[in-house]
Amino acid sequence: MLPARSQFPEGFLFGTATSAYQIEGHGFGGAGRTHWDDFAATPGNVVRAETGARACDHYHRWPQDLDLIRDANLDAYRFSASWARVLPEGRGTPNPEGLDFYDRLVDGMLERGLKPALTLYHWELPSALADLGGWRNRDIAGWFADYTDVLMRRLGDRTWSVAPINEPWCVAWLSHFMGVHAPGVRDIRAAARAMHHVLLAHGRAIQTMRGLGVQNLGAVCNLEWADPVDDTPEAAAAAARYDAIYNRWFLGGIFNGAYPDLALEGLAPHLPQGWQDDMETISTPVDWCGLNYYTRKLIGPDPGPWPHFAEIDGPLPKTQMGWEIYPQGLEKFLLRCEAEYSRGLPVYITENGMASAEVPVVEGTVDDPERVDYLALHLAAAQRALAQGVNLKGYFIWSMLDNYEWSLGYEKRFGLVHVDFDSLQRSPKASYHALARALARNR
Ligand code: FCB
Repeated sequence: MLPARSQFPEGFLFGTATSAYQIEGHGFGGAGRTHWDDFAATPGNVVRAETGARACDHYHRWPQDLDLIRDANLDAYRFSASWARVLPEGRGTPNPEGLDFYDRLVDGMLERGLKPALTLYHWELPSALADLGGWRNRDIAGWFADYTDVLMRRLGDRTWSVAPINEPWCVAWLSHFMGVHAPGVRDIRAAARAMHHVLLAHGRAIQTMRGLGVQNLGAVCNLEWADPVDDTPEAAAAAARYDAIYNRWFLGGIFNGAYPDLALEGLAPHLPQGWQDDMETISTPVDWCGLNYYTRKLIGPDPGPWPHFAEIDGPLPKTQMGWEIYPQGLEKFLLRCEAEYSRGLPVYITENGMASAEVPVVEGTVDDPERVDYLALHLAAAQRALAQGVNLKGYFIWSMLDNYEWSLGYEKRFGLVHVDFDSLQRSPKASYHALARALARNR
């Protein structure tokens, strides 16, 4: 069972999250080509070579989707805008239809009493900018600031919060070192540059929005707790290195203006000259900290090149993604964040949720008790962190709808609402109904 709203502090926000490319349908409305279209068109990158061309067709069905969010008794909706929908070439002439779409969407949220929590970049880089080196090119910080300016002049008077970049680790390391996400690069020098430029773009966007007077600006990082596979010093060192690259690089840059030594040890030779001079921009003050949390990793040493670590299959129960269920990691990260990074700023859990295998829709709903259990375990972890003094202000569930799960295509279902990808019919799952009951109150 999910804890009731009344078991959280007054004003604690509950929301759900989605992203543009994963739900909108990028084939509509004059959106430009993105590096995800290119990545998916390359054999072997994406399950069944699926793309976001139609996705959930949220572009046309958004009123119904916003109704569903309101009717779940949620307070806020974390969504993203697509850079390539706003600026099809990444720079230059905006697409008026794209700007109008986000304008209506934000008004639609406000009409329904939902707080619009906007993310400016959730991974669909315009191909035209990818052609110029994308996140490897330092100029991206300026291109991103310009995009921020165009979009926020239009929306900035009505957004409730804004975060420039969703999950910089995924933008940089997952996509340029591991090659798992677009652009599918596996190169340490590219990764180091992307890790720095993504934060520089974040800082430039914050400064741009401050200049426009946009309120409530934050940062959203994804975190994975790293546990050493055994009690050897080698495993402990490998886990610490993993933690430095995955978790401490981005929070450290944004909140402390410093990168961790354990990551610099391998990345410094590949960073652009004079990177130290950017740390002030990168750590431009923000108003809140967002943490996305799903799982932990068991880490052991690896004899290969730096970073000398390997992920090892863990023993805990797993979700459809193969991710271990480990709510203790969320509690530990919230405490760490409060002590070492956010230091009293409001903290939000900006994503948490699980994928579960497809089960048939029966009488308009889907039974997903495992999702209710997962959410309950993580909400309990959030309550423990609150009791220990973390300034936690809200919790967003990933995701509202089953959607395009990137290189894993449409098969991994994270939604509170089931989507039939043939008919596009939405069917609220049992977890959706449980949530609506838990959050019910006199509005
Ligand atoms: C996060 C992403 C989101 C989705 C979930 C499962 O890393 O922000 O788009 O893929 O994981």
